[in-house]
Amino acid sequence: APREAEPIGVIGVGWVGLVTAACFAELGHEVWARDIDAAKIAALERGEVPIHEPGLPELVARNRDRLHFTTEMAPVLEHAQLLFCCVDTPPTYSGDADLSRVEAVVAELAEPDDHALVMKSTVPVGTGAAIKRRLPALHYVSNPEFLKEGSAIEDFMHPDRVVIGNDAASSDFADRVAALYEPLGAPIVRTDVASAEMIKLASNAFLATKISFINEIANVCEEVGADVAEVARGMGLDARIGPHFLRAGAGYGGSCFPKDVQALKQLAGNSGYHFQLLTAVIDVNELQKRRLVGKLQKHLGSLVGKEIALLGVAFKPNTDDIREATSLVLAGRLQSEGAQVRAYDPVALERARAVLSNVRLCTSALEALDGADAAVLVTEWPEFRELDWAGAVKRVMRRPIVVDGRNFLDREALQAAGFVYEGVGR
Ligand code: UGA
Repeated sequence: APREAEPIGVIGVGWVGLVTAACFAELGHEVWARDIDAAKIAALERGEVPIHEPGLPELVARNRDRLHFTTEMAPVLEHAQLLFCCVDTPPTYSGDADLSRVEAVVAELAEPDDHALVMKSTVPVGTGAAIKRRLPALHYVSNPEFLKEGSAIEDFMHPDRVVIGNDAASSDFADRVAALYEPLGAPIVRTDVASAEMIKLASNAFLATKISFINEIANVCEEVGADVAEVARGMGLDARIGPHFLRAGAGYGGSCFPKDVQALKQLAGNSGYHFQLLTAVIDVNELQKRRLVGKLQKHLGSLVGKEIALLGVAFKPNTDDIREATSLVLAGRLQSEGAQVRAYDPVALERARAVLSNVRLCTSALEALDGADAAVLVTEWPEFRELDWAGAVKRVMRRPIVVDGRNFLDREALQAAGFVYEGVGR
């Protein structure tokens, strides 16, 4: 149990909200978690976890007594003073973040009172200031999240850093937020609200930049006969560069990088600054998603009538999230080239069904590969490595062509088994 249990409010029980609620409960706090989606709250009360996140069902079950799910704001305000805002801020058509859900939460808060709004939702820089202009007596703390899907609980419990932004009037509340994280032993960055907001956007934009950078290096490596994996290994040992986020592949996806890079570019643009680098980061990523089509054409010529098997639909392994996934762009491009597309994913098929029209969704990798003219690995699920490539796969495929969009498969073994292997940047 924590030195001092602090009742906590969580508003918006999506992926961030539920992870936050469950982890604070695990740290010994009582948590009141509110969502306007009655069906979701009912499911949570029955003990069902509506999202795929490793370890989360167990964590929710273990802390069931400390987790109070509700559709109402009143019990949250009654029991907790720190209100963690975890509603989503999806991109609008123009690329700006849609803040309507955040606004709806703010509209439910009275002012002045003894609560603090702790902003975990990713918001444009200046959102805290704008809310404070309208409600000057509202206590506001910026506390951006850096969780990765698939390892969110690990990331919450062992963060690289915790960022807390506040103004002088809210410093007592910010101290209490900081106290919640103290048992985790991570550096706590205390700063102003605008800087905290910028740390979140700049961090995601920088990581996306690293990925687009290594993807361009990969594209050059293909031309000059170098191996991008070797290049990344050599670069990453320089402590100033670091080894992470230098995996070349089929581009970044997900609900965060594409949205946040766009949002930061847009934010800069709205304030009159043209963020040139981010424009290139986005363009490179779009092209990278499509480059796999060219690799197929190199070996198959025209794709009209060709059967192409996509291995993986999720934007990365260990999640069923398909938002901005490379698979979606790829399926569309392949179809417009006249190919027949089939796809398999261990957990994302249900979500895929709603989005991937004209794609035959298969219940196993082997079913997808059966009769295929080529396989494209889009998501590096471990089970794709363990397939019997030399045996069963080779037997069922019409042609032994593999495009490995994540440099994930055993290239030497595949080539030895007679496959044509195309990776990225090698
Ligand atoms: C990302 C950040 O990593 C988190 O710190 C942040 O909290 C989160 O966004 C957010 O803003 O909420 P996430 O989107 O879950 O987390 O996924 P990542 O593991 O960062 O991967 C993002 C994409 O980059 C994936 O499509 C992945 O395949 C791709 N990637 C990653 C590469 O292509 N190469 C790499 O070397 C690393």
